[in-house]
Amino acid sequence: MDLYEALYTTRAMRRVSPEPIPSEAVQRMLDAAVRAPSAGNTQNWRFIAVTDPDVRSSLGPLYADAWATLNATVYKGMREAAEVRGDDQTKRIMTSADWLAANFAEVPLIVFAYHRNDADGSSIYPAVWNMMLAARGMGIGCTLTTVLGHFKHDEVAALLEVPADRGWKNAAAIPCGYPLGRWGVATRPPVETVVYADRWGTAPEWTVPEALWSPSGD
Ligand SMILES: Cc1cc2nc3c(=O)[nH]c(=O)nc-3n(C[C@H](O)[C@H](O)[C@H](O)COP(=O)(O)O)c2cc1C
Repeated sequence: MDLYEALYTTRAMRRVSPEPIPSEAVQRMLDAAVRAPSAGNTQNWRFIAVTDPDVRSSLGPLYADAWATLNATVYKGMREAAEVRGDDQTKRIMTSADWLAANFAEVPLIVFAYHRNDADGSSIYPAVWNMMLAARGMGIGCTLTTVLGHFKHDEVAALLEVPADRGWKNAAAIPCGYPLGRWGVATRPPVETVVYADRWGTAPEWTVPEALWSPSGD
């Protein structure tokens, strides 16, 4: 796959089929993950690839509860505002996130990323993204989620038998499967609206009105 296609179309792919992911694909995803950089090359990470239906069944209600908590707190105002404003993009994201919460146990592969001794927690995310890009290359969709780590950290750790006293923190749970929908380019505000030249507040000399990669190659 073209590098830019992977970069532009690797999205939160929440609606996936229950069809199992072959072990070779899981190996390729995780092998790509550990090629990623980490601060000082510390590689203070562990990944748990969950496919066992019993474990997934126990994770499902935990994810649903965590998602409900997020919606009753942090996302409450955002959801209400999206309804009032008729913000279709946010409403679509919320509908697909609700779908994931309702179907979490059916997702065939859930990868948990753990890290420790990383003051700002940034070292794990290149590995997570490498894994998601490798999955994209094989037509497997993933979603980077953090809600379980926020609201159900200890319950998930107990379920996955993560040692309690070694400082491991969950950074993400990444449900993965073959997409039910199609890949598309992420819609974002034009890049020049968030980029400055040399100093804060100075607009760059260029604008990029359209995404610089499109499926048609235009
Ligand atoms: C750090 C991080 C945490 C996220 N946590 C969740 C989550 O807990 N649940 C979920 O459904 N999506 C989660 N997402 C996915 C985002 O909602 C999604 O990437 C964003 O809405 C943009 O959509 P797109 O990836 O389709 O362009 C998370 C994404 C990131 C980067």
